[in-house]
Amino acid sequence: MTAPHAPFLPADQATRDRAITDHATVFSVEAGAGTGKTSLLAARYVALVEQQRASSTQIVAITFTEKAAWELKERIRSFLAEKKLASALHELDRAPISTIHAFAASLLRERPIDAGIDPNFEQLDGIAADLFRRKCYDRWLAQALEKNPGPFSRAIAAGLSFSHIQETAFALYDHRDVIAQIPPFPPSPDMENLFRELAAESERLWGLATRECVDTEDEGYRQIERFYREVRAARAASVEGKERALLLRIDPKPKGNQKRWARADACREQRAAMTALAGRLEKTKETLRESIAGELIGWLSDFVLFVEAEKRRSGKLDFDDLLFLARDLLKRIPDVRSYFQRRYRYFLVDEFQDTDPVQAEILWLLASDAPGAAHWSAWPIKPGVLFLVGDGKQSIYRFRRADIDTYTSATTSVAGQGERLTIHQSFRSGKSVIEWVNLTFGPILKEMYSPLIRATR
Ligand SMILES: Nc1ncnc2c1ncn2[C@@H]1O[C@H](COP(=O)(O)OP(=O)(O)O)[C@@H](O)[C@H]1O
Ligand SMILES: [Mg+2]
Repeated sequence: MTAPHAPFLPADQATRDRAITDHATVFSVEAGAGTGKTSLLAARYVALVEQQRASSTQIVAITFTEKAAWELKERIRSFLAEKKLASALHELDRAPISTIHAFAASLLRERPIDAGIDPNFEQLDGIAADLFRRKCYDRWLAQALEKNPGPFSRAIAAGLSFSHIQETAFALYDHRDVIAQIPPFPPSPDMENLFRELAAESERLWGLATRECVDTEDEGYRQIERFYREVRAARAASVEGKERALLLRIDPKPKGNQKRWARADACREQRAAMTALAGRLEKTKETLRESIAGELIGWLSDFVLFVEAEKRRSGKLDFDDLLFLARDLLKRIPDVRSYFQRRYRYFLVDEFQDTDPVQAEILWLLASDAPGAAHWSAWPIKPGVLFLVGDGKQSIYRFRRADIDTYTSATTSVAGQGERLTIHQSFRSGKSVIEWVNLTFGPILKEMYSPLIRATR
């Protein structure tokens, strides 16, 4: 069988036929834009229905955006119509052809008690979720500053802006699933001790410069003078003030022209001392920055708890919550997992390059009959149950949590248990565009790239 609308045979038709008709094998289809991947997925869907392997309500088709999901459903609708599969057409409105988020939400709506959530939960879309988070931040910040302003004012003193801190809070919230994995930060360097030593060293060098340098315009002389004054000013300041001075102002540089010093030796000596200081302070600053950031992150993690509590109180779930909760539901309660496995027989995923680890885990939890303690990519997949379609070089990973590692481990897992298929023939672009794309991306993306060839009619 060929794709229902195929008016001519592409060179790689045999591969396409396998992807459509072999329902006992799991496949990962990798190909560039316009090669007919989405059509292939739709054709497999229709073949599953036609051969009565499953009904429309038992086949889960996932894609990345609402718009793509709508288009996919329309394409499946037209293929079903061509085949005159009336009852499947009839069921199609209830068929789970959607984004992974909508699919996750449907699992939760069916089992809210098991998932531990409000059965009437409100789904926050991207904009609503952002607004909610901002409102929460303002409220949280006001009370956090009243309770314990230390970490905030320390970070501001060290040069971070209000918006840096807010961005950090939001980034932390976006990565709330991995907060527990953040490694501990180093303790703060002892500022009193450090400045006692810096004072001694700066006085010694300042003495040397005033005795030995014969030209106060000398850059070495000026460096020492600046260093000496900054250290002296900072000694009188609070610990926070010292940290600020260290990070923003104290920056000794080895300079100096021997001709402007009474003895070349003295010039060399101060330069060596300034070099040693610069190296040592660079390390201290690094530790200090890490410790300030660590303290700030610890402080901001309370914001994450605050948003979580507010969402729970008001029965709201954002996109990530849908995924986390669905994943946890399937992972925690084997009965629920087998219930959904009986309910959903096949999983076809388009634009799989944009998947993130939690989304992949949800799919694997449903596609495997033995999800164990190992990483999901090591779980056995039931024959034919999973069909992934993607284009590694189109990935917008980094956008949200998707990353290329997830795509690679998922497709490698599928290829190991089934087969990796590649299709080349493009139906969309003219010859010159294709040549340009091959020439440009081939060398850059290397093994991730499979060249396109044009369909000739
Ligand atoms: N086997 C085929 N024969 C002819 N045209 C096809 C075939 N498969 C897909 N097309 C057409 O090529 C275009 C791109 O297909 P699509 O499935 O959206 O590709 P992709 O998902 O890889 O970007 C569409 O206009 C589609 O109708
Ligand atoms: Mg497509």
